[in-house]
Amino acid sequence: MAVLFDPERKLFTLHTRHTTYQMKLGPCGILLHLYYGPRAEGDMSYVLSFRDRGFSGNPYDAGADRTVSADVLPQEYPCEGSGDYRPTAFALRRANGVSGCDLRYVSHEIHRGLPALSGLPAVHCAEEEGETLVITLEDPSAGATVHLSYGVLAEADAITRSAKIVNISDAPIVLQNAASCALDLPGGAWDLIHFHGRHEGERAPERAPIRHAAQCIGSRRGMSSHQHNPFVILADENAGEDGGLCAGAMLLYSGSFACTAEQDPFGLTRLVLGVQSEQFDYELQPFESFQTPEAALILTSRGLADLSHRFHSMILHHVCRGPWVTRPRPVLINNWEATGMNFDKECLLRIARRAAELGVEMMVLDDGWFGSRSDDNAGLGDWTVNETKLGGTMGSLAGEIRSLGMKFGLWIEPEMVNEDSDLYRAHPDWAFVIPGKAPVRSRNQLVLDFSRSEVVDAVFARLCTVLDDCRPDYIKMDMNRSLADVYTASAGMQSRGKVLDGYVRGVYRFLEMLLQRYPALLLEGCAGGGGRFDAGMLYYCPQIWCSDNTDAVDRIRIQYGTSFGYPVSTMGAHVSAVPNYATGRVTPLQTRAAVAMSGTFGYELDLDLLTDGEKEQVRQQIRTFKKYEDLIRFGDYYRLTDAVQDHEAAAWMSADPDGSEALVTIVRLLATGNSPARFIRLKGLLPDAIYRDEATGETYSGSALMHLGLPVPYAPKGDFLSVRIHLEREQDPNEKKRRPIWQNISLMRKK
Ligand code: GLA
Repeated sequence: MAVLFDPERKLFTLHTRHTTYQMKLGPCGILLHLYYGPRAEGDMSYVLSFRDRGFSGNPYDAGADRTVSADVLPQEYPCEGSGDYRPTAFALRRANGVSGCDLRYVSHEIHRGLPALSGLPAVHCAEEEGETLVITLEDPSAGATVHLSYGVLAEADAITRSAKIVNISDAPIVLQNAASCALDLPGGAWDLIHFHGRHEGERAPERAPIRHAAQCIGSRRGMSSHQHNPFVILADENAGEDGGLCAGAMLLYSGSFACTAEQDPFGLTRLVLGVQSEQFDYELQPFESFQTPEAALILTSRGLADLSHRFHSMILHHVCRGPWVTRPRPVLINNWEATGMNFDKECLLRIARRAAELGVEMMVLDDGWFGSRSDDNAGLGDWTVNETKLGGTMGSLAGEIRSLGMKFGLWIEPEMVNEDSDLYRAHPDWAFVIPGKAPVRSRNQLVLDFSRSEVVDAVFARLCTVLDDCRPDYIKMDMNRSLADVYTASAGMQSRGKVLDGYVRGVYRFLEMLLQRYPALLLEGCAGGGGRFDAGMLYYCPQIWCSDNTDAVDRIRIQYGTSFGYPVSTMGAHVSAVPNYATGRVTPLQTRAAVAMSGTFGYELDLDLLTDGEKEQVRQQIRTFKKYEDLIRFGDYYRLTDAVQDHEAAAWMSADPDGSEALVTIVRLLATGNSPARFIRLKGLLPDAIYRDEATGETYSGSALMHLGLPVPYAPKGDFLSVRIHLEREQDPNEKKRRPIWQNISLMRKK
C-alpha cells in the first residue's frame, strides 16, 4: 500500500519506492506536514515543537493553549487568515470584500490510480501503478471546501499534488490565490535552484541559499515563459550532481505561475508553487469549483543527476502520451532559417530533394504559407493556403514531398492574429483588446481569446480544412508573444485569473482536439523557441523547440539547463548555418551536429549551400544518429561539466542504465596555447567492466573512466571542436543478450 492512514496517531503516510511523505492531523484539525525524505518507517511527529512563540497567534478553538500556532507549524495547505503570516498557498475574498479563511480537516478518501484532471494535463499511469489520497479541508464561514489530492506513483518515486476548491456558500467568492502545493521542510539548509532566461537564452540554472526573505520566481505573461521555468529544485547545501538530498517540484501548467521559497524565523523552509496569484482573482459562483493545475514532486538522496533521471523517466512514462514517445522520431529539415517566409514551391522542393538525398526523413514547412503572410506583420489568423506561393494546394505540395520518400510537417500559430488579416477584420472582438485602451502589440500581433470556446472551435475548424487536405505527419505549434490585454468579450467572466486560466485551458483543448482528430500526429510545441517549455505542453507534445538560438555553443548551455528537469527526447534541436544568425559565431558542422543530436535532431539550413564534403558529413551524421538514437533518448543523461561556468570544455553523456554502453560528447570550447591536460570524468558505467571505444578499438577500465576520465583532445587546434566516443562494455560471448534500452530504462529505475 502506497497510502497509509493510522487513525490512532492521525497520520497519513505516502510511500514511494525510495521516499516517504508524512502528514498529521494536528490540534484543531490543522493538516500538518511532518516529513518528506528518503524512505522511512514510523511516526515522525517528533519534528513538531509546540511552544508559546511571541506574536504568533493561536486558533480560537485551541482555547487557552498558546503553543498551537499556524504561524510556526509546518503545514500542508497554509491559508491566509489562519494566523500564518508566511507566504501562503490559499487566500479568498468573500462577496462583501472581506478576506480571511481558516481550513480544517473534514474527511479523507483513498482511491486506486491517479485522477485525470478535466481539461488539464496530469501525471498518468495504469490503475495498479498509482494510489491517490484526497483530504478534504473546509472553512464553512468563508464558504470554501478544499480537496487536496496526493497522487503516489510508487515506482517512479513521484508524488503529485493539486487542489480542488468548491464554493459552498450562497454568494460568490473570489480566490485570490490557489497554489497547487506547499512544501514545509523543517530543518536543513536548502538552496533553491531555478531556471531563468530570455528569448534565445532559456533555462540557465541559478542556485542560491534560501534565506529569511521570500525568493519569488514566476511568469505574469500568460505563458510559462522564457524568463522562468515552472520547475525548481530544493537542494541541500551540500548536494551536487553525484550525491546529496534534493527535491524537485514541477508544475504541469503552461500559463502564468509563481513559486516562492522562504525560510521562516524558526528554521523551516517553505516552498509554494502554483498559478500566479498576483493576477488571479478567480471568481467562483455558489457550487462552482476551481481545479488547480497539478505539481509533481520527486525527492532523492543521490544528487542532481539522479533527480534528473527520475524526472526524465516520469515525463517519458507518465506525462507524455501517444505513439511518438517511444517511436524513433523522423530526422527533419525545417525551411525557416534557410528561407524565412521568402519561398515558393520550387524552392521548397529543391530543399526537400537535397535533404532526401542525404537521408533526411521529413520536410517541415514553417511560417509564411497562408493568407497574405509575406512578412511577420500580416496574415496570422487567415489559415487559407497561399496557392500562388505554393503553386497549388497544401495537399499537392505534401504529395510531392511524400513522393520523395519523406514525411511532411507544417507550422501553425493558432492562438494569434494580425490586425492586418481577414479574421481580425471580421471578428475584432476575438482578440484580447480592452475596450477604450490601445492594445500592446508584440511582433505586431495580437492574441486571440482562447478562453472562448467559439474562438477555439472556429480556428480549429479553419485549420482542419488545410490539415485534412495534407494530413501532416507533424505539426509545429508556435506561440510568438506574451499576453498583455486580458479582456474577454464573453459575458460574465472578467476576472483576470479566470480569463488567463481559461486561455491556457483553451490551448489545451485545441491540442487535445488535434490529437483526437489526427492520432498519428507528432506535435512539437514552440513559443518563440522555448517560451512554453513545460510539463503541461509535454502532455500533448512529446517534443518542444528548445530555443530560437541554434548557435551550438549557446545551445550547449540552454540544453544543459533544460536537462535538469526534462529529457533529451523532448528537446527540439537542429543543425543550422554559420555564421549563426543569432551570435555570428562560426562552429564546425561536426559540433553543431553533436549538440543537435543531444535533442530531437534535424536540420534548419539550405543544404545546397554546403560543400560536397559537408554534404557527405550530413549523410554520415544522420546514419550516426539513427545508430545511437535509442541510447541518446532513453539512456541516463549525465552532465559531465558545468556548462554555465566552464568556458574551456563542455561534456555530457548518455549511458544505458545497465552499464553496457555509453555515448560521450566532449566539446573543447575556447582553445588555449600549450594547454594543460584536462580530463572529463564519466558516470553511470560499471567500475569492474572494460569498455571498448568503438571507433579506435582502445579499451578502458570503467573505474578509470569514472575516476580519472577521458582527456579533452588538444589537437587539431581551434575553438569549438568536438569528439563523440561510443563505449561498449566488453562482454563474455556467453552472456545473455541485452534487452532493448526502452525496457531497460523502466526496469533499472526500480533500483
Ligand atoms: C518562432 C519560432 C521559429 C519560427 C518563427 C516563424 O520564432 O520559434 O522557429 O517558426 O517563429 O515565425
